[in-house]
Amino acid sequence: MRLTRRQLVGGAAVSVLGAGGIYKLVDELTAPPKRAATGSLRPEQHLLDGIRVVRDNGTEVLVPPLHHEVVTATLRVGERPAELRGAREELEDALRRLDESFDPTPGGLGVTVAWGIPYFERYVPAQAERHLPLDLRATAARGEPVRVLEDAIRFPSDPDTTRLDANDLAVVLRSDSLEHVAEGAKALFDELDGLFRVTSIRKGFVGGGFEGGPGLPKQMALAAGIQGAELIPDGAQLFLGFTSTQKAGLGPSRIANLETLGYADLGPSGYFVHGTHLHLSHLFEDVAAWYQVFDFQERLDTTFRPGLDVPRETQTVAQGMSEAQTEEHVRRDFARHRRIGHAGSVQPASRLDRDTIGPDGTRYPKGTAVPQRADFNTLDNPFFWSAEPIRDKFLDEPAAGLHFVVFNPTSDDFRRTRLAMDGVLPGGPRLVFETGSRGRGFNSILATTHRQNFLVPPRTHRSFPLSELPA
Ligand code: HEM
Repeated sequence: MRLTRRQLVGGAAVSVLGAGGIYKLVDELTAPPKRAATGSLRPEQHLLDGIRVVRDNGTEVLVPPLHHEVVTATLRVGERPAELRGAREELEDALRRLDESFDPTPGGLGVTVAWGIPYFERYVPAQAERHLPLDLRATAARGEPVRVLEDAIRFPSDPDTTRLDANDLAVVLRSDSLEHVAEGAKALFDELDGLFRVTSIRKGFVGGGFEGGPGLPKQMALAAGIQGAELIPDGAQLFLGFTSTQKAGLGPSRIANLETLGYADLGPSGYFVHGTHLHLSHLFEDVAAWYQVFDFQERLDTTFRPGLDVPRETQTVAQGMSEAQTEEHVRRDFARHRRIGHAGSVQPASRLDRDTIGPDGTRYPKGTAVPQRADFNTLDNPFFWSAEPIRDKFLDEPAAGLHFVVFNPTSDDFRRTRLAMDGVLPGGPRLVFETGSRGRGFNSILATTHRQNFLVPPRTHRSFPLSELPA
């Protein structure tokens, strides 16, 4: 169904929820990977079962779902307990029906409901005051009480135009099937449109090249006429040509849960145990500059660390515990090359600095990655649909970008990794770059347009969290 410009620009969100637009091409360009696994519902909303592991260049790589969609919204619900109870039951019923219809696997559908600060402040302020966990590490570091959920900030490399959004909620949908994603979006935002005012719909894709062939990012970029698309290496998992879901670079199992690493005080009720933190942002990527200005060695140095020596055309570069960079490494390389690498610069903040035992007895050795990234490439500009097309500078011509989705134990934990990406390392003075320097890792070819932090409650409290408790 070809969408009219009216429908795309500020028209009724429900009319585009199920529409694939250019993303329908994904199913024509690649077949969903064979996945046998079924899954069981975990107490965590953000963990999927049945994630396949392949080997590329001798390194274990996780194969994320092909299709991704994030829908953000504000609420149309009154603040009185009875209104909240009705809304909570309606949403929970719809989510339960999705749980019954789909396995929480790439072959089925992953659904993660996350709530923003505006929701907690407007609907459950007293309950939030009592139950929103404190971030003990950040509280100690900053000498004032810090909650696990904080407002997002603009980072040093963000343009002043980066918008800090104020949505009540965001729903992350992931699957190998575009239909399953569409059904999930319709079940929540079409059938329950009395509860929500959709503010944005964000769509995208990852991978599809591990079985050979050009891979989705290249095919989609070519189909959309993105400048530099022909330079994207065949089989690349992302527009920028390097694999970004190697197993060692992603937090394992429950490591990003609020309770696992002891960063958070979950209080006597433990209401948010099995919950986590979500950061959501959109970045434009200058694909043409990346391939035309940076040669292969410079792309490698910029993505990983300066002076890396691997065969040309390598896409997956091992980032295991022994390869992970310490702050001292990053500072030494910067002194020598006036450059930082993306993965290398964030590793002092994204890797565990000591052995840690989780509350369930799981041992996480020093050097284990913590953040669980679920980011995906997109052609949205900056969104597939926006309720505020003028404010969001919405254009319906495709643009290369990334919807960045990451689960961390706390807002502060995300903040520390993102600051490290700009050379503000956890342990000391920031690295100072000449203005416009290409030495700033990826940042010289990325532009962030939107950001917001959210709290992901455990499955048992995913619908209107804390609203069932007395004020
Ligand atoms: C266009 C944008 C981006 C691209 C193409 C990208 C790509 C990559 C690649 C290729 C890796 C290394 C391979 C791996 O570990 O699997 C990586 C690692 C990582 N990236 Fe990004 N990234 C992007 C943006 C971001 C942003 C905005 C953040 C926010 C903090 C981020 C955080 C991380 C983290 C935490 C790691 C893992 C580091 C480690 O512990 O090894 N990335 N990314």
